[in-house]
Amino acid sequence: MSTQNSQYLVHSNGIYHGLPVFPDMLQGLTAIVTGANGISGTYMIRALCENPKRWTKIYALSRREPWHQYPPQVEHVSMDLLQSPSAIAQQLLEKKIKADHVFFFAYIQPSPVAGGTIWSAADEMVRVNKSLLGNFLQGLAGAAAIPQRISLQLGSKYYGLHLGPAAVPQEESAPRVGIEANFYYEQEELLGDFCNKYSCQFVTTRPSYLLGAVPDAAMNLVYPLMVYAVVQKHLGKPLIFPGDLACWENVFSFSSSMMNAYFTEWLALTDVESGDSFNSIDGSPFTWSMFWPKYAAYFKMPWEGPEHCTDEDYMEMSLPYAPPPRGWGPPGKRRFRYTMVAWAQRSVVQTAWREIAAEHGLRNPNLSEINRTFGFADAAVLTAWPCVSTNTKIRENGFFGSVDSTQSILKIFDEYVEIKMAPKV
Ligand SMILES: NC(=O)c1ccc[n+]([C@@H]2O[C@H](COP(=O)([O-])OP(=O)(O)OC[C@H]3O[C@@H](n4cnc5c(N)ncnc54)[C@H](OP(=O)(O)O)[C@@H]3O)[C@@H](O)[C@H]2O)c1
Repeated sequence: MSTQNSQYLVHSNGIYHGLPVFPDMLQGLTAIVTGANGISGTYMIRALCENPKRWTKIYALSRREPWHQYPPQVEHVSMDLLQSPSAIAQQLLEKKIKADHVFFFAYIQPSPVAGGTIWSAADEMVRVNKSLLGNFLQGLAGAAAIPQRISLQLGSKYYGLHLGPAAVPQEESAPRVGIEANFYYEQEELLGDFCNKYSCQFVTTRPSYLLGAVPDAAMNLVYPLMVYAVVQKHLGKPLIFPGDLACWENVFSFSSSMMNAYFTEWLALTDVESGDSFNSIDGSPFTWSMFWPKYAAYFKMPWEGPEHCTDEDYMEMSLPYAPPPRGWGPPGKRRFRYTMVAWAQRSVVQTAWREIAAEHGLRNPNLSEINRTFGFADAAVLTAWPCVSTNTKIRENGFFGSVDSTQSILKIFDEYVEIKMAPKV
């Protein structure tokens, strides 16, 4: 933690403010980014590439080829982290891959259990995500490619927010939630044991819902919001908020992928205690009630909130845990007029999207992975308990980055147009 009279030099970059200024002498670093083509990895590489003198070589690892062209200092390596550690080590050795820093974002989201929410296959989530990390770490050891520091991204599910109301605000020191298996805890333990054994430093981060524009991500909030608006406009209908008043006014911390990447870079290069964990958030409280009119204004269309709804208008579902993660009280409950998943499953919506995609030559001609894509939006839009992470600890340690989450979402709508995932409206 910084001492009392520290001074910090910060700068702004577009909508991002309070960004750290690094010393010029920090040059010639190398990085491995796993999960390189996902929502976190894409922006991590973008942030590192903003400083080609600082980061002179970046290995971008994922199974699939990159979906866009990388700058010359980035080398894509197609690698399956579910391979054996020895196969991974062999690949690292053959390609001479070794780096100062590892940023780990590889992630697999198994299909949910029948009738469950999107993260309900908790044990399988542990199994596959522990394998991804464990195989890779053993591969690094096998190739004698231990970095100085490993940054592992966890998330707000660390607090159990996906299981119902948790202690609020979410502070890094909160006790773990034991009501269900949680792959973040297992990954954190695994990484800690590995780093102790190999004398390597590590840090972990806990973003909330990530905001970003990529063609494919297991969890992506902005894309379904964009599809919803584009299709409703095409059908001549308004933007109808699906949840009740509690959802409408619920307060969230969101995590813009770009700000998350700036933070993760800073944390990797900052003298914090090895093994420490930090929330990674935009630093601007977000409610759907403040966002919805701006959302409608962006798409130039009418909107409806829950002001005139009565109890009869809502369906209801309860999450399975009583007490919920906070340790007392009733289970988390969601009340909604419709779900985004049910909306996207309508044939009129799917036909509309096919027409729009064909007319504009989009790279996503059909609405695919509906449960995954729109189920994540439901989790955000229909959550009625606060998802508010503190940024006290990151500030105490000297990071002051912030971005307005609404401005960030509107910018990302533009990015979806640029990458041909949505039309300009
Ligand atoms: N998205 C969010 O809103 C959010 C919020 C908070 C925390 N988090 C956490 O952040 C972490 C990263 O998630 P993300 O959202 O960035 O994931 P993501 O966008 O779904 O990306 C996953 C990445 O993992 C790679 N991958 C999947 N299977 C692989 C395999 N067998 N071998 C190698 N690479 C593989 C994918 O590329 P290929 O398929 O090409 O291999 C992709 O690059 C996760 O722990 C997640 O829980 C996410």
